[in-house]
Amino acid sequence: MAIQLERIPSTEALYERAVTIIKEVKAQGAKTFGLATGGTMEPLYAKLCDTTIDFSEAVSFNLDEYVGLGATHDQSYNYYMHHHLFKQKPFKQSHLPQGLAHDTQQEAARYEALLNEHILDFQLLGIGVNGHIGFNEPGTSFDSVTHVVNLTPSTREINARYFASLEDVPHKAFTMGVQSILRANCILLIAIGESKRNALEALINNEYIEDVPATALTKHPNVIVLTDLV
Ligand code: PGA
Repeated sequence: MAIQLERIPSTEALYERAVTIIKEVKAQGAKTFGLATGGTMEPLYAKLCDTTIDFSEAVSFNLDEYVGLGATHDQSYNYYMHHHLFKQKPFKQSHLPQGLAHDTQQEAARYEALLNEHILDFQLLGIGVNGHIGFNEPGTSFDSVTHVVNLTPSTREINARYFASLEDVPHKAFTMGVQSILRANCILLIAIGESKRNALEALINNEYIEDVPATALTKHPNVIVLTDLV
């Protein structure tokens, strides 16, 4: 099995390990980093900001962005990235889908084309309670590239904790597709907390089912999974 599973019960130690992996990947020459958002990544970015790591010659691509939220909206992922990472650790270039793009299909195509001009040396991933990666919800084709998704009611409900009310959570998002993610040379997935157990188990039991998008990773040659679940 290609997945390297590391169970680290202490989240503090787990995030330290994630920082070490990112430093190692960078020391080996990685220049293009796929980045993720969500609660799981906040402590990781805080730790990275406390290091001397320098991304000023690197390029980043984020996994996803809400349709309809611009960079100044405090729940956009563009805003999140500036707040948690880029303002302290700027990259040479940072790319995210443009939440306010008028023509969403055209924006998805533009983002995928831009991704295709680069090789992602590294991709950071969280995992949804329903097994999503990026915003690739259950049932998404493993052949998918960057596209616009309808967020599932459960994802909207889970993410509502960041918004004033459920009604404020966008219904659509841009996401890199499963295939776009799998093109990365090295993938680090972080799964923290009991709510992720079912999704994680499908992955580590080597299932390969579009109902659990993260299981697409079982066919990737270089995946590290860090989890506090034992
Ligand atoms: P979380 O989100 O880190 O906020 O749990 C992860 C995800 O939905 O991919």
